[in-house]
Amino acid sequence: MERTYLMVKPDGVQRGLIGEIISRFESKGFTLVGGKFKQISRELAETHYGEHKERPFFGELVDFITSGPVFAMVWEGDNVIKSSRTLVGATNPTEAAPGTIRGDYGVHVGMNIIHGSDSEESAKREIDLFFTSDELITYEKTL
Ligand code: CMP
Repeated sequence: MERTYLMVKPDGVQRGLIGEIISRFESKGFTLVGGKFKQISRELAETHYGEHKERPFFGELVDFITSGPVFAMVWEGDNVIKSSRTLVGATNPTEAAPGTIRGDYGVHVGMNIIHGSDSEESAKREIDLFFTSDELITYEKTL
């Protein structure tokens, strides 16, 4: 079963959107297999966002993601990587469609509420960066 990494950023946490965001992924039919509230270190932020190291906004990005706690999650389901990108919306909230998380709640590209893995490769890398295998629990829905 496919898995992806999703993270409510400090702005989403501070605006009280954790519950709303979890609800959207649950309603879609995906399964939460891991979740934790976490203060990210600069070292972890620099590794997580390593592909953007040469971008002019890199420093701002690291400052922001370490500015307060995040809510890190792993979700499971068929095509969850692509589908969750659709639910999240375009990177820049000014271009994100209404009905998407960024389209409904975001204003700034640097503070865009949520991060979601963009490929199978980055999902695996990001899940391994934020979670140990015993923090991820797969279970059968019987109720
Ligand atoms: P995210 O999906 O977490 O992945 C990389 C992040 O870089 C992206 O969301 C944006 O929040 C951020 N980003 C992209 N472009 C810019 C920009 N021009 N200025 C500031 N931050 C940006």
